[in-house]
Amino acid sequence: MGDASVMEKLVSLAKRRGFVFQSSEIYGGLGSVWDYGPLGVELKKNLRERWWRSMVHEREDIEGLDAAILMHPRVWEASGHVAGFTDPLTDCRQCKNRFRADDPRLKGTPGEPDAQCPVCGSRGTLTAPRLFNLMFKTFMGPVEEDAALVYLRPETAQGIYVNYLNVLQSSRQKIPFGIAQVGKAFRNEITPGNFIFRTREFEQMEMQYFVKPGEDERWFEYWREARLAWHRALGLTESKLRFHQHTPQELAHYAKAAFDIQYEFPFGWQEFEGIHNRTDFDLRRHQEHSGKKLEYVDTVSGERFVPYIVETSLGLDRLLLVVLVDAYREETVGAESRVVLRLHPAVAPIKAGVFPLVKKDGMPEVARSLFDDLGRRMPMFYDDSGSIGRRYRRQDEAGTPFGITVDGQTLEDRAVTVRHRDTLAQDRVGLDQVFSYLRERLDQ
Ligand code: GAP
Repeated sequence: MGDASVMEKLVSLAKRRGFVFQSSEIYGGLGSVWDYGPLGVELKKNLRERWWRSMVHEREDIEGLDAAILMHPRVWEASGHVAGFTDPLTDCRQCKNRFRADDPRLKGTPGEPDAQCPVCGSRGTLTAPRLFNLMFKTFMGPVEEDAALVYLRPETAQGIYVNYLNVLQSSRQKIPFGIAQVGKAFRNEITPGNFIFRTREFEQMEMQYFVKPGEDERWFEYWREARLAWHRALGLTESKLRFHQHTPQELAHYAKAAFDIQYEFPFGWQEFEGIHNRTDFDLRRHQEHSGKKLEYVDTVSGERFVPYIVETSLGLDRLLLVVLVDAYREETVGAESRVVLRLHPAVAPIKAGVFPLVKKDGMPEVARSLFDDLGRRMPMFYDDSGSIGRRYRRQDEAGTPFGITVDGQTLEDRAVTVRHRDTLAQDRVGLDQVFSYLRERLDQ
């Protein structure tokens, strides 16, 4: 199986089974914007909830927040995004295409006669690089003028910084403490692509941890390890996970140190989560630009300081791609082949399929009643069409961990066969035990 074809097969499976669709597809699609279908929305929700539970519910030192996407435009001046969130771009005067100046497909130096356009092949038609800001702009209120300009946030982090004192005071937390948030972010990416890897609208799951200056490096190490452990617990292939430390050239304008957690995608090793030591950069800048003091006062020692911030920043859509890529398998079972998504049971969109072996002899009635009962407590799927093998394979492709078959014997022994997606093992389980049997194996 060639590497490129893995992505093609995954994109096609994602569409066919209702994980991910192209946005506005009937109009030809909108560049690098994607929609989540019935299975995708469940998988995404499960990943989001798993993150939220581990960050907010299971910890006493982290609070949740949901800040608005639109923020005062001066936030982005203070954060450095207006001046610094830019890519150098070059335009081809011949074919009008636009490229990042560091696009590896470009030959020669943009702006020089030898430079060659990678699309139309013309020489000397590429302009000298110009800086292009990645933030989306819109206007607030009825007048489209500069004074009404607002941005769609390019990261969720700033909503946390400007609210940090509100959260601190209302929750009565003490440093060290964190604020977690999940929400949409927007970037007018110039070279988006690889399906949902780099898109123009995406969701981030970010946590900002506020610490005393001098303790930042210790917390940075702590969060680096904690985040890798979280991905391991999701069952991601160990050998496909690694850290990448940012070189001074790679560091974002706000960071003193940064590590990416990378995954080995079919298109190479790429970041899907970043852990950043942002120092007191953001809070100091907001203090300067807003004129409001953002100091923390230690109630015991009376000490005052602007906290340092350690950030963990995970892209939800990118995590979903990691999870799909990692789960995708083509297998041969006996004489047959199957495509299976070996999703972690806790995040699988559907937990079990319920199948009456045949549509007669009382089997559909028992299967329906089991389905109705379980369906109130977890997402289930009822399927009575086609051979049992086909029904299993349809659920394998959807990543459903269990298949429950009601057969002729069920009416006598009040038991069903539970088939495991990954091992194909089959257990006979009493009808009144099915829920606890599944729950034990799902809550990990
Ligand atoms: N607040 C820090 C921050 O935003 P980042 O490294 O620019 O840092 C963090 O982004 C994470 O957000 C990335 O690791 C990635 O998972 C996700 N992300 C960033 N840009 C993205 C895009 N265009 N499409 C999808 N996910 C993106």
